[in-house]
Amino acid sequence: MAAITFSNIAKSYGSVRVIHGIDLHINDGEFVALVGPSGCGKSTLLRMVAGLEEISSGELKIGDRVVNAVEPRDRDIAMVFQDYALYPHMTVAQNIAFGLRMRKSDAADIAARVAEAANMLQIEPLLSRRPSELSGGQRQRVAMGRAIVRRPKAFLFDEPLSNLDAKLRVEMRTEIKRLHALLGRTTLYVTHDQVEALTLADRVVILKEGRILQEGAPLELYEHPATRFVAEFIGSPQMNMFAGTVRHGEGAAVHLNGLQLSFESIDAEEGTPVSLGVRPEGLLLSSGIAADMHTRVDVFEPIGSDTMVSCPIGGTMAVVRLAPEVPVARGMELNLSFDRNKLHLFDAHTGDRIKARANTKDR
Ligand SMILES: Nc1ncnc2c1ncn2[C@@H]1O[C@H](COP(=O)(O)OP(=O)(O)O)[C@@H](O)[C@H]1O
Ligand SMILES: [Mg+2]
Repeated sequence: MAAITFSNIAKSYGSVRVIHGIDLHINDGEFVALVGPSGCGKSTLLRMVAGLEEISSGELKIGDRVVNAVEPRDRDIAMVFQDYALYPHMTVAQNIAFGLRMRKSDAADIAARVAEAANMLQIEPLLSRRPSELSGGQRQRVAMGRAIVRRPKAFLFDEPLSNLDAKLRVEMRTEIKRLHALLGRTTLYVTHDQVEALTLADRVVILKEGRILQEGAPLELYEHPATRFVAEFIGSPQMNMFAGTVRHGEGAAVHLNGLQLSFESIDAEEGTPVSLGVRPEGLLLSSGIAADMHTRVDVFEPIGSDTMVSCPIGGTMAVVRLAPEVPVARGMELNLSFDRNKLHLFDAHTGDRIKARANTKDR
């Protein structure tokens, strides 16, 4: 069993508290991504699991064992960092074997484990090279090999792909996912890149300023963000936000700049200032009369699978995702409607989600 359990974990550097009472349970074999902006405490949390950082208060368990006071080498977990920290004077094989040598494992066993890891990572032809003779992606594989041969109970990754170019990053992402499927080990993966988190993890935990804002399956976070911060953090391009006001005249409605949207119900008082959120795919092309709004294309980006179109709506620049076959030109008129099933309402002051039922008959 290698579940990882944080119970009210806190961390202070001197008098500055950077982690505020984290409760989180990672199931045995689960892949959890911890994502948040730079400085929110991701590395600190991971380093506390690895034993590289003292835990100020709370209890950390790996499996059934409380490990607060357990030395890093006795925790039976492996960590892969952004800078691979390979030994330059050693070959790939020696680098991968290093940890096992230090533990005085049997030579035949070491050789077998190195061969197995090299096969898994498809780096057999590289075993006699030195790190300086490898590309960034190859070095990253070697760093993973070094973790794999230890057959740890859990893997910890701290932004392992940040130093790679975009194409390689996507390749290695797939590789990490494949390895997890193959090895089935508990994995805690830290990144500031929400796309990486959503594509890799079974469950995503969003951290801000040392606190968990929301956790859930990737699609759950995408479709039901609990706060405006999460709504804007998850998804690319970012969710569009329009400033509006709640009105309860003839039925519930949100009044936007030059536009009214009726709702079946809105769980907020008359006059509450709100942010109405809609993702780029929640703005639909519509025929002239049925449309909620008319605007013009400002810029457009054909990316093959979709075309991203920027256009002014209600005083802000909104992004609309169109099918690639829709002809688009700069200045072209667009008639758009809100997809009533894809609206999000947030309190403009607190940023908290407001419960609302869209009026799907309002077209
Ligand atoms: N050794 C340290 N001494 C003092 N403050 C630190 C130290 N390490 C990290 N911090 C602070 O703790 C906070 C969280 O840092 P970190 O965990 O590295 O964030 P992240 O990995 O999410 O970018 C930051 O405000 C950072 O400045
Ligand atoms: Mg970090």
